[in-house]
Amino acid sequence: MPDLSARSCAAPASPIRRLYPLAREAKRRGKKVYHLNIGQPDIHTPEAFLRGIREAQLDVLAYAPSQGLEQTVEALAGYYERCGLPVGENEILVTTGGSEAITFALTVSCDPGDRVLVPEPFYPNYQGYARLTNVEVAPITTRREDGFHLPSLSELRRAVDARTRALLFSHPGNPTGVVYTEEELETLVELALEHDLFIIADEVYREFVYEGAHRSLLSYPEVEDRVILVDSISKRLSACGARVGVFVSRNKEVMTAAGKCATIRLSAPTFGQLGLAAFLADPQHERVIEAMIQQFRRRRDVLCEALADVPGVTFRKPEGAFYIMVGLPVSDAEAFVRWMLTDFPEEETLMLAPGAGFYATPGRGGDEARMAYVLNEEDLLRATSALHRGLASYAKTAGAPASP
Ligand SMILES: Cc1ncc(COP(=O)(O)O)c(C=O)c1O
Repeated sequence: MPDLSARSCAAPASPIRRLYPLAREAKRRGKKVYHLNIGQPDIHTPEAFLRGIREAQLDVLAYAPSQGLEQTVEALAGYYERCGLPVGENEILVTTGGSEAITFALTVSCDPGDRVLVPEPFYPNYQGYARLTNVEVAPITTRREDGFHLPSLSELRRAVDARTRALLFSHPGNPTGVVYTEEELETLVELALEHDLFIIADEVYREFVYEGAHRSLLSYPEVEDRVILVDSISKRLSACGARVGVFVSRNKEVMTAAGKCATIRLSAPTFGQLGLAAFLADPQHERVIEAMIQQFRRRRDVLCEALADVPGVTFRKPEGAFYIMVGLPVSDAEAFVRWMLTDFPEEETLMLAPGAGFYATPGRGGDEARMAYVLNEEDLLRATSALHRGLASYAKTAGAPASP
């Protein structure tokens, strides 16, 4: 057999999904596994969205235009206008999830061998998109004790070199839940201007903000020609399977280049776009989103309160999104996550995403894990209780040193 490409071999397996076979096996043995490892909300997809799909009158399930269905692009322009981010319809491209929007953003901003600065811990697929486009992730380390807020401008400057072309970050953050302050955003703006960088602002959690206010990078006029806004309905509408995301830029050349990428892959999914257009046409849609945000806020509060009682677990209350990165009183979080699925001798257990996979710097995140508060409050409490008992019993297990 011919050799596989180096880049496909180097693309990392997702730390979020990698341990699934162990969870499947645990379930086969009759265990209840609480999945806090993945950002798949249990909340129902809004009825107006599903109705838009159910009631679609189609004789042929045709390709959508590469830019997106006309009514979807128009509805999105209205949505951004209501968010205080006026963009023209020609500044919007509907993509196959936020994932494709990020791949397009890296493709139009970087050549093979270029570097993209990414605050770590980061959404692990950033590493995957970068590998597939032959771009190098240059991490900027942020720390749990700082609530994963950014380091100073001088530290950020040190991370830039001649090959650095772009900044990429999720805001609010996955896995950190961080929402940057105006001061931090201004620092990023200054860095981008100083070093002529594109800003790829992944705002797929843009409405899930519980502390402070979220300001979009697109609202800074001085960088509007270099900001690429990445958006998605996967989480905000609990519609992960619709595979609809958005690429937004006010830069004509960027849109032309991204438009070429879009024609190469033909079109984004038609049904998802129909659902989105129907949802945004529903006069109740803002209320539906607001109710979802309140639900996640309660879940965050319930989870944080419960975690505060688990000895050795350290965290800062996240400000947004629906994740929390916790420090665990173990030296190897992945070994503990595995053990919870293979050896924890109780009927209920939980699955977490081990922290190391969220970092590009070797050795970082080994004692951390990400929890996604995507389950109902009762399940979150049961899962935290399993974590509490699991840590206690793991500490007593031979070969599992506890290091609180
Ligand atoms: C920060 C972030 N960006 C992008 C994505 C990609 O999502 P999708 O392709 O479903 O829009 C995710 C999914 O979890 C995410 O957390």
